Amino acid sequence: MAPAEPNALPFRPKGETPHFAEEKEGWKGYVEWEEFPEKKKQAQEVLKRYDFPEPPEFQLIPLPTTNPVLTGERWKQYHSALGLSHIFHHSWETVLQEKSPDMTHILQFPYNGEAPGDRLIKTELTNNKDHFVRNHGGIPDIDPAKWTLDIGGLVKNPKKLTLAQLQDEKTFPRQSNIVTLQCSGTRRIEQIHEYPGDGDELINAPWGEGAISTARWTGVSLKRVIKYCGGLVDDKGADNIEFYGADTYFKKGGVHNYVVSVPWRKVKAHEVLLAWDMNGEQLPKIHGFPVRVVVFGYIGARSVKWLYKIRAIHRPSMAPVQRKEYLYYTPQIGKQNATYSNGFSIQDMPVSSAIITPKNMDQIVHEGRVRLAGWAYSGGGHWPVRVEVSGDGGSIWYEVPTENMSTKYFYAWRTWWVDLPVDAEGWLEMCVRCWDNAMNTQPTFVRSAWNWDLHVTSSAHRVKIYSINKSRPNTAARLKQLEENNTPIVPITRPIQFDLETDEEYAKAMESRAWRDPLE
Ligand code: MTE
Repeated sequence: MAPAEPNALPFRPKGETPHFAEEKEGWKGYVEWEEFPEKKKQAQEVLKRYDFPEPPEFQLIPLPTTNPVLTGERWKQYHSALGLSHIFHHSWETVLQEKSPDMTHILQFPYNGEAPGDRLIKTELTNNKDHFVRNHGGIPDIDPAKWTLDIGGLVKNPKKLTLAQLQDEKTFPRQSNIVTLQCSGTRRIEQIHEYPGDGDELINAPWGEGAISTARWTGVSLKRVIKYCGGLVDDKGADNIEFYGADTYFKKGGVHNYVVSVPWRKVKAHEVLLAWDMNGEQLPKIHGFPVRVVVFGYIGARSVKWLYKIRAIHRPSMAPVQRKEYLYYTPQIGKQNATYSNGFSIQDMPVSSAIITPKNMDQIVHEGRVRLAGWAYSGGGHWPVRVEVSGDGGSIWYEVPTENMSTKYFYAWRTWWVDLPVDAEGWLEMCVRCWDNAMNTQPTFVRSAWNWDLHVTSSAHRVKIYSINKSRPNTAARLKQLEENNTPIVPITRPIQFDLETDEEYAKAMESRAWRDPLE
C-alpha cells in the first residue's frame, strides 16, 4: 500500500501517459467523460495501474498547522496519471489570482478555502475574493465567446444556447437575488474533533465556520429557459433537472464530470438561477465562469459551476455526486452498515449559526459584557428570525436585538452582534442558536446531529473563552499590578514573575479565613 500524505511518494508515470484531448476549442481543462463510456473505461484502466497515496489521516491525529492545511496529493496524482497535471497547476494559479491572499487553504487541490471569519461577517454580502470555494476537481478556463449550453433530455425542443443568446433580455428577462451558498461541510471540524467519521478519497475537508458566503447573483431563471425549450415532455415522467459541470471528478476508480440534479418543483418556483454575475461583477473563474447554477436554499453542491449541459430527467441523477455523496446518515450508521440508499440526500439546508468573534480559546478582558458576532442561516426558503446566545454553555439564553441583525431575505444569512452580559470569570462556554420562521432551532450538542459523512454540523455553535472581568475589584487590582510590572495578562498561560500576595497580606487574609484546618 502506498504511504499516506504527507509522506506520499512523488508521482512516477507507469507506462505511457495517455492523452485525453480537451473537448472543444476555447474550453481549457474540460474533458467530456459522460458521453463517452469507452473513454471512461480507458481512463479507469490507466488508474488501475497505480498505487495512489492514501488520503491523509487528520481525524485521529492533529491537522497540520500549515497553509495549505492539506495538499491533496492523491487527487493530483489521479490527474497526472491521466496526463492532466496542467489542470491542478492552473487551479492553484487561479486561486492565487482570484482569492484574498490570507484565505485559509483547507485543501490545495481540489481547491477548498475559506476567508478569515471576522472579515467574512463584516458585510452582508461577501466580497467575491472572500467567498468560500469548494471544488471537486480543477478549474476549467472557458472562452465565453466559445461557451455553449446544451439543454436536452425530456424537454420538448432541445436547444443549444450561446452566452449572447442567454443574456439577451428580450428572450430572457434578468433575475437577481441575494442568496447564501453553504457547503454542507461547514463547521465539520467540530464533528471531527469529537467523533471522527468517513475519510473520503476526496478528503472531507475540515472546514471551520467559513464554508458559507452570500452574494447577489444575476442571470436568468432556469424555468424561463426550459419554457423556451417548449417545457417538459408530457407523460415521460420528467421530474428532475440534471446539471453538468465541465470539471473532471473521480469516484472509486471511475472518472466523471461533475453532475447533480434538483427536483423540477424547485425550478418551477424560480429558485434556480443560471448566473453570470456575482455582486455586480463578472463571475470569477473559480466560481464557475462563464455560467453557473445557483439553487436557492439548497446545499451548495447543487449549484453547479462551469455549466455546459442541462437535461430534464425522470428521477434524481444517478451520477456519483448526486447518488453517492452528500448523504446524511443517522448516528447508528457508519462504516459497518452505510449504503447509498440508507442516508438522506441533503437538499434543503437546516437552520444553523456560528459565533465568529470571539474565537475559540480567546482570553478576553472586559467590563461585564463581551461582544459576540457571527452569522445565522436557514435553508429551504426559511430565514433567521431570532438569534440567541448563551454565556454558560446553553442554560441561560439572551436574544440578539433585532436591530443588531442584518436585513432578512428568503434565501440568505443574517449577520449579527450582541454585547452579552458576562459576570463570571475563568473558562466559559459561549454558544449561539438560531430560530427560523418555521420555529426550527438547532440541536444542543454536536453529538445530537453527528453523522458518518460529517455533513451539516447544525448543533449550537460553541466557543470557549477565558473571561477576565475587570469590573471586579480583585481583577482590576491584578491587572494594575501586571501593568506596573510591564507584564501582559495574555496569554494566560505565561507564568507571573512576581508574588501574588505579600507576607502581610497573606497573613491577614488567612487570619480572616481561620487558616487551613478546623481547630477541632
Ligand atoms: N460545480 C462543479 N462543476 N464542481 C464542483 O466541484 N462544487 C459544489 C458546487 N458546484 C462544485 C460545483 C459545491 S460542493 C459547493 S459547496 C459549491 O459549488 C461551492 O460554490 P463556490 O465554490 O462558488 O463557493
